[in-house]
Amino acid sequence: MKKANMTIDRAFQVADVDERIFGSFIEHLGRAVYDGIYQPGNPLSDEDGFRKDVIDLVKDLQVPIVRYPGGNFVSSFVWEDSVGPVELRPKRLELAWRSLETNQVGINEFAKWAKKAGAEVMMAINLGTRGIADACNLLEYCNHPGGTKYSDMRISHGVKDPHKIKVWCLGNEMDGPWQLGHKTMEEYGRLAEETARAMKIIDPDIELVSCGSSNLQMPTFPQWEATTLEHTYEHVDYVSMHNYYGNPANDTADFLAVSDDMDTFIRSVVATCDFVKAKKRSKKTLNLSFDEWNVWFHSNEADDDEMKNRPWQVAPALLEDIYDYEDALVVGLLMITLLKHADRVRMACLAQLVNVIAPIMTERGGKRAWKQTIYYPFLLTSRYGRGTVLQPVVKSPVHDTAAHENVTDLESTVVWNQEKEQITIFAVNRNVDEDLELEADVRSFEGYRVVEHVVLECGDMKAVNTADLENVAPKSVDRTSQDGGCVRSILKPATWNMIRLEK
Ligand code: AHR
Repeated sequence: MKKANMTIDRAFQVADVDERIFGSFIEHLGRAVYDGIYQPGNPLSDEDGFRKDVIDLVKDLQVPIVRYPGGNFVSSFVWEDSVGPVELRPKRLELAWRSLETNQVGINEFAKWAKKAGAEVMMAINLGTRGIADACNLLEYCNHPGGTKYSDMRISHGVKDPHKIKVWCLGNEMDGPWQLGHKTMEEYGRLAEETARAMKIIDPDIELVSCGSSNLQMPTFPQWEATTLEHTYEHVDYVSMHNYYGNPANDTADFLAVSDDMDTFIRSVVATCDFVKAKKRSKKTLNLSFDEWNVWFHSNEADDDEMKNRPWQVAPALLEDIYDYEDALVVGLLMITLLKHADRVRMACLAQLVNVIAPIMTERGGKRAWKQTIYYPFLLTSRYGRGTVLQPVVKSPVHDTAAHENVTDLESTVVWNQEKEQITIFAVNRNVDEDLELEADVRSFEGYRVVEHVVLECGDMKAVNTADLENVAPKSVDRTSQDGGCVRSILKPATWNMIRLEK
């Protein structure tokens, strides 16, 4: 049998996890807001029209921050349309997703929903078709206590206390030609710098995110980061990263290696930030906000046709990927990668949360919301991945795939929750054919004992969950033993594993 070793030592610490890496995203896109979090009249909804069953699932996921309102949507968003008496709000043509926006849910409603779901709002501003003044007005509306035009407007809308929104994204994917109001790197760098300076005068406590590249393949990457950060470096707190992964070639082994691409992307952005830091002789270190990541490819073709032929309508079903077992493995792997970089990736958003490339799906009528396959690795990593990330010394066999070389069979990370005295090993066997024996040396954690080994495993890579049937869900197995400071586990081919120890 193939073997991998890891030595886990309490002294080898990467960083304390910022819980905001378990963030997510709700965009005014498809059925995410209307039909997703908001379904007035449904027996499962509360007095504000919010689906209670959805809120319960979001709470289970312990999502601490939710990005809003886009995404591509934000680049033509007129925020003033989304506040004030609902009956007076205009219906607008929404250009990014070619839909009708009714503005029944806006800034104040979403803030209310987030509070119910136990999350903070990460607000994105429109730097596509709008600019500095509109961003300042929105910030004044949301965060200023009162006594000014926009803060008093909020109060007149029935919201006395400011929302105190801490994190603000300076636009969305401004490097992308598909973005409304797409900018060159010089144009964006200047606009973002000036907007950041003005916003920090209004509220010096906010944290700002400068737009990075839309994915690793963008032709302007990493020059986009180098040039835009020349302008924004001293005025912002994070640079954003976005990337979606897919398996269009139907090659599981290669798909399981895409977390190495995420790793490369993160390392390159860190290097670019540090280059700008060195160039500026700055004392400040910039961190990363990976605020859009997921698997996204199942719905692409259908959506392309749909976008061309569909009449203007409210909440069309868009980006409704139905996730299978191997997608769940990849989401688990991507979360391992984010944790491994916990020293620099301080925020991340699974894009998205409900109905649109989402772990949670809703139907109309009385049927409860249901969990896609990707719900589970997110749930368990969010639950047990809080604490201090350790840097294990790992030895693993490697293999090559169609587009990746030296892919380790074992991909893993370890989180030590010092308060709860728990260690969690997250481990994926990326070898699709053979078992892997994992031997972990935990001598530095005297008194810690294995309490459970939970797996996601399924013989069918294409198995999916539905509203009525859960084919993919975690289960406990008896495949781990402990002899003093040595923990031995069997990791079945193409499985996600969570091995937990407690004192
Ligand atoms: O999450 C779906 C879309 O993906 C977002 O609107 C956009 O930012 C990205 O391209």
